[in-house]
Amino acid sequence: MKKTTILLGLLVGTALFADVKKGEEVYKANCAICHTIDGRGGMGPDFNMVSYKRTKEEIASYAKDPYSLSEKFGYSSNAMPTLPLEDEEFKDVADYVSSLVKFKEWMIKRKDSKKELVKVEDNSTKIDS
Ligand code: HEC
Repeated sequence: MKKTTILLGLLVGTALFADVKKGEEVYKANCAICHTIDGRGGMGPDFNMVSYKRTKEEIASYAKDPYSLSEKFGYSSNAMPTLPLEDEEFKDVADYVSSLVKFKEWMIKRKDSKKELVKVEDNSTKIDS
């Protein structure tokens, strides 16, 4: 039983790693001309910010169909082309982008919501009239 679990773990681990590796190749060949990963910024947003703000699913969906999603993602127009890649490649590249930043915006939000619970009214800056 233990052996099976370890084997499964190894298989899953290797599969995940392979996706990120494959995704990096997809990134270099198809996205790097417009999206940087070193914060420099290009025609599209740097992927570190994207990794921080978006889920894997959002990244894969946007990469596949930027035209119909640009408004929902907060853009007033769509300049990113629709790329002729396989669904699997969109998933792999999303795994890669998502792997760039380990801590996500939703984690911070959760911390903030805890702060809300213990918030104490601060009167120190109030001006008496
Ligand atoms: C020709 C330039 C170009 C290429 C190539 C390109 N993008 Fe983009 N991308 C953009 C631009 C510009 C935007 C800003 C929104 C828009 O115009 O659609 C964008 C936006 C995005 C967003 C939304 C970011 C956010 O969080 O708001 C994602 C995700 C994305 N691109 C992924 C990819 C992936 C993955 C690839 C490669 C498979 C890729 N892009 C290739 C130009 C490009």
